[in-house]
Amino acid sequence: MRIEKAGVAVGAIVEHVDVTSLSDQEFADIRRAFLDHGTLFFRDQKLTPEDHIAFAKRWGAIDLNRFFKRREGYPEIAEVLKEPDQQLNIGGGWHTDHSYDQAPAMGSILYALEIPPSGGDTLFAGMAAAYDALDDGMKDRIKDLKARHGNAHVFGEESAYRKAIGDRYTNADQAGQTAIHPVVLAHPETGVKGLYVNPGFTLEIVDMDPDEGQALLQQLYDHIMQDRFHYRHQWREGDLAMWDNRSTWHYALNDYHGHRRYLNRITIEGVALA
Ligand code: SIN
Repeated sequence: MRIEKAGVAVGAIVEHVDVTSLSDQEFADIRRAFLDHGTLFFRDQKLTPEDHIAFAKRWGAIDLNRFFKRREGYPEIAEVLKEPDQQLNIGGGWHTDHSYDQAPAMGSILYALEIPPSGGDTLFAGMAAAYDALDDGMKDRIKDLKARHGNAHVFGEESAYRKAIGDRYTNADQAGQTAIHPVVLAHPETGVKGLYVNPGFTLEIVDMDPDEGQALLQQLYDHIMQDRFHYRHQWREGDLAMWDNRSTWHYALNDYHGHRRYLNRITIEGVALA
């Protein structure tokens, strides 16, 4: 097995390993690399849905996604699909999964089944590197702040995005969760500090004037959106990506109209964030 850093701020490529037959030592090395790099990309995997589920269960309990259409016969697997005649993709903006939950998902494991001939890359951003690069004044300003996250504007009945994306999202009536988390998160496993707000689901800074709060969020987003904190993954069929929702953002680019892109995602439960 070879694990090599992919981006300066986030990501590592894992090669020469089959995730269906990892030894305990290999799994421990992979877990360490996951915490160190925030996102891992396993090349050349040949997974059945059962293999994907078995690998996911090594990390923890599976979070049954409420809103994504599930793969038939496999409720654990959420479909990330765009057909050639569809315009909108899933995850086509910077976000981190499930930040609207009280105990946000620990990570997501995405397996590439069909990839367009070109395009369809995913961007990842490293929240610890972005936090480290803030100046001391900003670190001091945000150190005790909390933010409210929510999902109705994405998955709810009134969401224009959900209406436009059609039956790839389900259970609009179950949307509406909100949760409050620290803006600066000490990672629950490593203690490393990172930014924990995202444009997809963060609604407001708690106990701050709304305009001031939105301006602060935008300032943080503009900072994180600098290329120096990103890694761009160019997918190959058989790639398996696994990201840590507590320390990364991701963004699925939508630049492959007229082609099919189909991936399967399993999400792992996490813990409440303090
Ligand atoms: C997602 O946000 O889970 C989708 C990522 C991707 O399709 O690359």
